[in-house]
Amino acid sequence: MSETVAATGSAAKGAALETLDPEERMSQDELRALQLERLQWTVRHAYENVPLYHRRFDEAGVAPDDIRTLDDVQRLPFTTKGDLRETYPFGMFAVPMDQVRRLHASSGTTGRPTVVGYTEGDLQRWARLVARSLRASGVRPGMKVHNAYGYGLFTGGLGLHDGAAMLGATVIPVSGGQTARQVQLIRDFEPEVISCTPSYLLTIADAMEEAGIDPRSTSLRIGVLGAEPWTNELRAEIERRLGIDAVDIYGLSEVMGPGVANECIETKDGPHVWEDHFLPETIDAETGATVADGELGELVFTSLTKEAFPIIRYRTRDLTRLLPGTARPGMRRIQKITGRDDDMIILRGVNLFPTQIEEIVLGIEALTSNFVIELTKKGQLDAMAVRIERHPSLSVSTCLAATEVLRKRIKAHLGTTVEVRLEEPGALPRSEGKYKRVYDLR
Ligand code: DLL
Repeated sequence: MSETVAATGSAAKGAALETLDPEERMSQDELRALQLERLQWTVRHAYENVPLYHRRFDEAGVAPDDIRTLDDVQRLPFTTKGDLRETYPFGMFAVPMDQVRRLHASSGTTGRPTVVGYTEGDLQRWARLVARSLRASGVRPGMKVHNAYGYGLFTGGLGLHDGAAMLGATVIPVSGGQTARQVQLIRDFEPEVISCTPSYLLTIADAMEEAGIDPRSTSLRIGVLGAEPWTNELRAEIERRLGIDAVDIYGLSEVMGPGVANECIETKDGPHVWEDHFLPETIDAETGATVADGELGELVFTSLTKEAFPIIRYRTRDLTRLLPGTARPGMRRIQKITGRDDDMIILRGVNLFPTQIEEIVLGIEALTSNFVIELTKKGQLDAMAVRIERHPSLSVSTCLAATEVLRKRIKAHLGTTVEVRLEEPGALPRSEGKYKRVYDLR
């Protein structure tokens, strides 16, 4: 069978139907039946092997036998990052330690990290799902993948690595940092694919320009980008600057790591959730009530096949909507995630997300995408400053005029007054992974 969508760019678009996993071709009804069977297994497994789940289900008056339909998941209690911290390090594991083949941990900004574990089977399923995600991104066996996600306890590096190998690609395990060397290796090894955070890809593009290399002239054709919120405006900027297809990969360590959901290159309309392994819900973050598909809410996941670390109704704090499937009609999509509820800035009664500033910045040509947000106190009042780097090739007066446009647009679109400060090129910290955009100095 031929490719389902005609290639419009340089990268291979879409995947021939027969190369998809059988689950990717399932109808919604087939998927729902598979999900229910797997949900019932997961709930029993968690109840019987994890004391915290046993206690919580008992308190909620719900037993594994009560899960008769997919909607019954709503009877189960939520799990939060706090629960994982409380049971640090291994209290949520559902198999004996001698069956755990690997540990990962997320650093977390405060307190203890959260630790997750994988059996041999978990690692294989994870690699298969990342391989599926890469294939959806347009990656094909035989391509070279320059993997600049951090290796180590972070799930990005090793997660992408095993998936790329499973797909039959050649992995270049560069990890993050040493940006000048990354540029050199991209020139020498000629990878078609780069995987890293979107903000780090911009750092790499800047370094290419500093080295006198046109970022559009390299071998790169596809970016598999995620691990932090980014907007469609940033996607357009990355595609323009590097001449690649930029595809969104989503995941979180508590639920598995990268590859929980992934965009399809032929539609680029938000990541499809791999629903044969994860049951998504959206809830009202205040009340915990389920919200309908299509409505904005906090994303919640229940794992369906995980052995070492089953997770029930995990509150991700990511805000999005569940949308119908497109390129994979049986599986729902999530709208591109542009904010977490803990990223939200509350400034004199106005709620805003850093990505809303990103959208506005990218709409003004004379501005670079290198900016940070500083929150301070001026007397009793909160104040916000956007510090943004000047374009190296434009005059200071042109850039200053652009900062005035930015200030006005922020006021007009977000209803809040901010100070905009122009910085010299290179003055702000550069991303090497997940970018820290907001500095709260209050
Ligand atoms: O960031 C896993 C990952 C690695 C995903 C590589 C994609 C690529 P954590 O460190 O546990 O795991 O962070 C998870 O990062 O809850 C989101 O807030 C954010 N995040 C991850 N992917 C995306 C994305 C990895 N594509 C947290 N868009 C999640 C927006 C994302 N936010």
